[in-house]
Amino acid sequence: MANVLITGASGFIGSFLVEKGLELGHTIYAAIRQSSSKKYLQDKRINFVYVQLDNTESLTQQWKQLKAEGIHFDYVVHNAGVTKVRDNDEFDQVNNGYTQNLMNSLAQAEMQPKKFIFVSSLAAYGPGKDNFQPIKDADIPCPVTHYGKSKLKAENFLKEQDLMPYLIFRPTGVYGPRETDYYTFFKSINNHIEVYIGSSSQLLSFIHVFDLVDVIFKSMNSEIVNKAYFVTDGNSYTTQQFAQITKQLLQKRTVRIVIPAFIVKCVFAVTERWARFRNQITVLNKDKYNELISENWSCNSTQTMIDFNFKPEYTLKKGVKVTLDWYKKNKWL
Ligand SMILES: NC(=O)c1ccc[n+]([C@@H]2O[C@H](COP(=O)([O-])OP(=O)(O)OC[C@H]3O[C@@H](n4cnc5c(N)ncnc54)[C@H](OP(=O)(O)O)[C@@H]3O)[C@@H](O)[C@H]2O)c1
Repeated sequence: MANVLITGASGFIGSFLVEKGLELGHTIYAAIRQSSSKKYLQDKRINFVYVQLDNTESLTQQWKQLKAEGIHFDYVVHNAGVTKVRDNDEFDQVNNGYTQNLMNSLAQAEMQPKKFIFVSSLAAYGPGKDNFQPIKDADIPCPVTHYGKSKLKAENFLKEQDLMPYLIFRPTGVYGPRETDYYTFFKSINNHIEVYIGSSSQLLSFIHVFDLVDVIFKSMNSEIVNKAYFVTDGNSYTTQQFAQITKQLLQKRTVRIVIPAFIVKCVFAVTERWARFRNQITVLNKDKYNELISENWSCNSTQTMIDFNFKPEYTLKKGVKVTLDWYKKNKWL
C-alpha cells in the first residue's frame, strides 16, 4: 500500500480520488486550503495537509517537516486547479504556476515521489481539427481557452523538467455525483428546457468520475512514466444524444430552444464585462463561447486503456443514470 498526496482533495474529482484511495487501502494525505470545505472529506482515515500552493518556500518547509517525521509520498496526484476565475491571469497563476511550485518544493525538500500525476484537461489540446476525427496525442495542441492554455503550459513544464517522473492525464468532460456544471444541463432538462447554440451539432466525449479515479490509481501500479494520456469512456456522443439519454432517464419531454451563435457571442461578451466590473465569476464568457462553438470534442483514449488495462465501466447512459439517481437522492433534482 502507498502513501498518496492528493491536492484539490476538497473538490468534485479530488473527493472521489480520496475515497478511491482509501477503498484501495492507501494512506491518503489530502492537501487542502484552510478555507476548503470538508463536506466530502469526513472519513477519519484522511490525513489533512494544509497547503499554500502559491508559496514554494512554505511548501518546501512543510515537506521537510513531514520528512523529519518519517513521512514520504509514494505518489502525488496534483489535481487542484481552477476552471472558472474572476481574472483570466488566475488560470496561469494556479493551473500552471502552482504546479511548478508544488513540483519545485518537493524536489527542494528531496521528497520526490515515484510519480507526480498531473490532472490536466482535454482543453489543453483544444478541439479536434480533422473533420470529426477523435483528437489524438500526435495532434498539435491548440487550446481555444485561457484555461486550456494554462494546462498546456503546466504540461510543457512537466515534460521539460527532470526533477521527478510524471504522468499526465487529460480527462474530457467529467461528470458524476457532486458535480455542479453538467448539473445545470440536467436541471434544465428536468425543467423541460433543451437549449442548443447554433444549428450545427457538437461531438462530445465524457468520462464518469468513478472511471477517472480508477485509471489514476491503476496508473500507480504500472512502470510507465513520463507520458500523457487522454481519458474518455471510449465513445463519442452528439449533444442531441446526450440530451436524449437524459430525457429518457428523467422521463421528461422538452421544449427545444436554438439560440443563434452570434447572439450567444454578444450576450457572453456583455456578461463577461459585467462580471469583471462587479468582480464576480461568470462562466458565460468568451472562453465558454469558444468551447460551445467548437464542433469536435471527441478524443482517442485507446492508449490509456492499453497501458493501464483500463476498461471504463460507465457508458454515458449508465453513468448519467447513477448521477441522476444521486442528484435525486440528494434533492438536487
Ligand atoms: N470537472 C471536469 O470536467 C474536468 C475536466 C478535465 C480536467 N479537470 C481538472 O480536474 C481538476 C479538479 O477539477 P474539479 O472538477 O474537481 O474542480 P473543483 O470541484 O472546482 O475542485 C477544484 C479543487 O482545486 C482546489 N483549488 C482551486 N483553486 C485553488 C488554489 N488557488 N489553491 C489551492 N487549491 C485550489 C479547490 O480547493 P477549494 O475547495 O479550497 O476551492 C478544489 O479542491 C482540475 O485541475 C481541473 O482542471 C476537470
